[in-house]
Amino acid sequence: MSVVDEGEKLFHGVLKSKNTVACDQCHPNATNTHPEAYPKFQKQIGRVVEQWEMVNWCIGNPLETEELAADNPRMIALLAYIKHQT
Ligand code: HEC
Repeated sequence: MSVVDEGEKLFHGVLKSKNTVACDQCHPNATNTHPEAYPKFQKQIGRVVEQWEMVNWCIGNPLETEELAADNPRMIALLAYIKHQT
């Protein structure tokens, strides 16, 4: 459970963004994240992507923050939290 807890904190704003936007402002309790649908085509990126790439799209765009590698522990925690909530 500790990885999920860590992901929850990141999701609610511990993942420091330059503009203080947090994931939960647009995805309260990880809604509208659809982990079961991946991999799939995302028009924002223009190709078939894995979910972590879409998380990076949100990190890079709404949050205006540095993207995370797929195996970054913070990325893994975010994905674990999303999966746990949905
Ligand atoms: C300003 C609003 C906003 C913020 C903040 C935001 N997102 Fe998103 N997110 C979106 C939009 C818009 C989409 C695109 C929805 C689509 O095309 O299905 C999206 C899509 C996603 C998806 C894929 C959803 C799907 O249906 O395939 C995931 C996963 C996701 N966001 C996670 C995150 C995470 C994690 C954070 C924080 C790091 C975050 N988002 C922050 C708006 C936001």
